[in-house]
Amino acid sequence: MPVHLFGRPVDMERVMAIAQDHNLPVIEDCAQSTGATWGDRKVGSIGQMGCFSFFPTKNLGGCGDGGALTTNDPEIAATVRMLREHGSRTRYYHEAIGVNSRLDAVQAAILQIKLRYLEGWNAARHAVAERYQTLLGAVPGIVLPTVPQGGATVWNQYTIRIESPPEKGSEWRDRVRQFLMDQGIISMIYYPVPLHLQQVYASLNLGPGSFPNTELAAHQVLSLPMYPELSTEAQARVAHGLKDALAAI
Ligand SMILES: Cc1ncc(COP(=O)(O)O)c(C=O)c1O
Repeated sequence: MPVHLFGRPVDMERVMAIAQDHNLPVIEDCAQSTGATWGDRKVGSIGQMGCFSFFPTKNLGGCGDGGALTTNDPEIAATVRMLREHGSRTRYYHEAIGVNSRLDAVQAAILQIKLRYLEGWNAARHAVAERYQTLLGAVPGIVLPTVPQGGATVWNQYTIRIESPPEKGSEWRDRVRQFLMDQGIISMIYYPVPLHLQQVYASLNLGPGSFPNTELAAHQVLSLPMYPELSTEAQARVAHGLKDALAAI
């Protein structure tokens, strides 16, 4: 299950080759990447299935929860339609234990209108990312996100890393974040706790140190303001704030 995280497409040629070698189905997680492409194909159209989220923070967000699944396989489509309707193909006749996962009509109407604007919004996000690159490209102590060769990113998040020695844990990043917050600049941490350290997976006994690169990333990542309407002035303020924060830690 490749996750096109932060809007950045995974190298789907490699994924599909591995899947083919091992006879595995591929389900693409496109929740943060609506509109991203790999090669000349949109993500969500390359594996057997693509899963999309319409949570309001996503590139195509509704006014509440919602999501969609894409597939080119009619059998999968029919099965998923059945499962989303309490396991029923014909009303009140149930063949499986399903769920209620219908997209409600109000959300659908909102999303149908917003879909027209998606490409423009993604282009605006791209411009924001390019401005960050110009503003922050020469700033020491941070690592900027890279863009993949072979695909187009849609910048659901603009996530940098605050370089710090592993023994510092998240201290430097947290201080930068607090410094920004004190100036009224909101940043987010995606994600503070790696999967193997989540309580839900405690039974796997994978303690700290099991995945050092993942843990270091969790301690260093910081997502800066990123949305299509972010003004040049506001973005300059973020960049100044970040430089001041880095000087202060
Ligand atoms: C990468 C990723 N996958 C899956 C999900 C789940 O989407 P939803 O909350 O719409 O079920 C999210 C939402 O935050 C996400 O960011």
